[in-house]
Amino acid sequence: MQDIVIDTPTQKSVIHCGKGSFEQFAKGLDGKKLFVVTDSNVYRIYRDLIEKTFKNSPVHVIKAGEASKTYTTLIGILKHMLESGATRAYTVVALGGGVVGDIAGLAASLFMRGVKLIQIPTTLLSQVDSSVGGKTAVDLNNVKNAIGAFYQPGEVIVDPMFLETLPKREIRCGLGEIIKYGALDKEIYTTLCANSDRLFDMEFLESITAPCIQHKANVVAGDEKDLNGLRKTLNLGHTTGHAFELYYKRKSHGEFVLIGTYYELIIAQMQGVCGGEYADNLKMLIGKVIKMPVYDNAQKAALAAKFDKKNDEQSTVSMIVPAKEGRCAEIKMPLDEYVKTIGEIAEEIKEKK
Ligand code: NAD
Ligand code: GLY
Repeated sequence: MQDIVIDTPTQKSVIHCGKGSFEQFAKGLDGKKLFVVTDSNVYRIYRDLIEKTFKNSPVHVIKAGEASKTYTTLIGILKHMLESGATRAYTVVALGGGVVGDIAGLAASLFMRGVKLIQIPTTLLSQVDSSVGGKTAVDLNNVKNAIGAFYQPGEVIVDPMFLETLPKREIRCGLGEIIKYGALDKEIYTTLCANSDRLFDMEFLESITAPCIQHKANVVAGDEKDLNGLRKTLNLGHTTGHAFELYYKRKSHGEFVLIGTYYELIIAQMQGVCGGEYADNLKMLIGKVIKMPVYDNAQKAALAAKFDKKNDEQSTVSMIVPAKEGRCAEIKMPLDEYVKTIGEIAEEIKEKK
């Protein structure tokens, strides 16, 4: 087991990583006032563990899936907290993937102006990314994460035991964010290339989780509230990823991160920002995890990039793209040029199939 600490001006956050971290956490719960939020899939699979661990604590179960990341679900959690007698002495426990973590985190930040928060991520994506760093949110009007807050968890329990029940597709989603770290961090890139044939291997995934979290912890410690440009590097591939996610919907966030990274890597190559063996290796890693889908209407989908939070104005699209090993770059493009380029890349993918 390994502890990673993020010390920010608002909160010290301790991330306990490794097998046995959940059991260790469960031993120290006696007398704690907890309000547990989970989703319908996690509750179905882990009901016995939840009942044994959290005994008489209220458990709020949201319907699994991104469609639950709404204001209405958020209000449902807050109402349940009030009705079950929760006070400022309570801690919200988010037990689930990124959807549960984002919405329960936002509920914790709002209830009585803020109560303690513990994240227990149960998907690979939430273990390497969303449970760490304090971004919480719900979607609004088809805009992802439009309402949210920075709210650090006091503790994060990252136990690979939860990955044993995770469908392969969800592992793929987690690998989307892991490859993103590879494009930001030379050591992670080297490890991924050296292990490109065992990306889905559980032992490998366990070994790469802490380095990814450590990368994120360093970034968050340097720019907790996304103010000085450091934290937005964690959004590599996400501009196009989020735009496609809103339009095509059929895949999950992590898969769209991979697709977005691929498109933005090609834009980086077109602009001479990235290239050579490095670009080929990143494409190889992406190809090991996902087949690029053929998209009609890619230009229409790309229009949603105007809502990206990195943009200074809606007419200019900002993207964080891979540059060199361990280095990324920001590309800003007029919206119309971006949309046209995305359409061309989609056509090229279609022709190659
Ligand atoms: P998710 O929470 O929807 O989980 C994916 C699926 O796996 C769900 O069906 C869930 O019920 C199921 N599941 C969860 N744990 C399981 C387990 N142990 N065994 C079997 N099934 C399990 O999706 P996700 O990929 O974890 O997270 C995506 C969300 O995270 C998106 O909303 C995205 O915007 C957000 N996100 C937030 C941040 C952040 O910094 N806050 C970063 C990245 C992504
Ligand atoms: N996932 C991006 C961030 O936490 O900033």
